[in-house]
Amino acid sequence: MTMIDEHAPMTRGATDSAAFRATFGSFATGVAVASCRPDGEEGVAITINSVASVSLNPALTLFCLDETSATIAAFLRAGHFALNFLTEDQQAISNRYARDHSFGTGDFGDGWKSGAPILNGALAVADCVLHDVYGGGDHRILMGQVVETGWRQDARPLLYFRGGYGNIGDSAS
Ligand SMILES: Cc1cc2nc3c(=O)[nH]c(=O)nc-3n(C[C@H](O)[C@H](O)[C@H](O)COP(=O)(O)O)c2cc1C
Repeated sequence: MTMIDEHAPMTRGATDSAAFRATFGSFATGVAVASCRPDGEEGVAITINSVASVSLNPALTLFCLDETSATIAAFLRAGHFALNFLTEDQQAISNRYARDHSFGTGDFGDGWKSGAPILNGALAVADCVLHDVYGGGDHRILMGQVVETGWRQDARPLLYFRGGYGNIGDSAS
């Protein structure tokens, strides 16, 4: 474990985007790919990390999507989404769906209960019906009711911290 001098002053900033990113980039997260397929259309997927588990009963989750994202209309039309949490071996999948939102060959399988396509090899999946959409500044907040879940024990998560990828190391199970 790294020892820190807790009396050393923190870098303090305003709320400009650099300070905002430095602050929230310090909150290490997993990485997910959100996917959907509107009726009669091709599927769409995007890399995200703005995931929160909101409520247990009813089972609700959310993610935040940039208002200007090319994918937003498809998620609204579909009325469903899957949050596919990535394993440490899926960094290339994260990079791909951050820039190209059409499905790569063999990346996705059939939908589960909601109909949203499921990422092959995902660490865990929250399959959701779109429940509510809220405004959140320059993002939209997509809240989903979780209708099916899945997870695997034999893999570990891809992490994101200060703009870079990591993993949890050998000591964590
Ligand atoms: C690790 C990671 C996490 C991201 N998280 C989000 C997110 O939560 N919400 C979001 O709108 N974009 C997020 N992005 C950016 C999108 O994946 C995408 O690059 C961006 O929306 C630009 O693509 P678009 O304009 O075609 O949608 C993330 C990217 C990476 C690499």
